[in-house]
Amino acid sequence: MQVQIVDHPLAAARLTTMRDKATDNARFRAALSDLTQMLIYEALSQAPSESFPIETPLVGCEGTRLATPPLLVPVLRAGLGMVEQAHAMVPEAHVGFVGIARDEATAKPVPYLESLPDDLSGLPVFVLDPMLATGGSMLHTIELLVARNADDITAVCVVAAPEGVAALENSAHPVRLVVAAVDEGLDDVAYIVPGLGDAGDRQFGPR
Ligand code: URA
Repeated sequence: MQVQIVDHPLAAARLTTMRDKATDNARFRAALSDLTQMLIYEALSQAPSESFPIETPLVGCEGTRLATPPLLVPVLRAGLGMVEQAHAMVPEAHVGFVGIARDEATAKPVPYLESLPDDLSGLPVFVLDPMLATGGSMLHTIELLVARNADDITAVCVVAAPEGVAALENSAHPVRLVVAAVDEGLDDVAYIVPGLGDAGDRQFGPR
């Protein structure tokens, strides 16, 4: 599996803001939005483009655009804070939604929403979820996508645990990972360490 770590001083600065427990909800959301811009920019760096004719005020010339804009799929709730910025970067993209809660007792994913096009063959799909912890939610989402014939999936995350990266690697699904940091590991309740806490709570407040 291809893992692209976005190693840039601005990404590191926004991630530091997100990690800091003194950062309030509003500043956390703003840092997540800024970081999403960098992640999407990197995730599209090798995307195929196509030419089409345009007219400048002076002459005709060739313009370019993405050949196939990705489907954006935020995983609710935490991925909601990434979708607006991702959509601003790729305004022509369509958006699907997956809702997965975390059972705090078992750390297992509990799916509650699936709103996706029926056929995803040939369409790049960007799954937006800030935290790749055990990989359970991401794998569940990938399985929903593969069941709809997705063959080009990118997990766009802020922080990953090595356990989550390994879970994707061992899955043999057609996925790559774009992430700002791979942290040390998981604690005994499957939170990423050092991590940034609960990415949903840090954006929206506790449930
Ligand atoms: N989900 C989060 O929001 N944070 C973690 O550290 C792990 C899973």
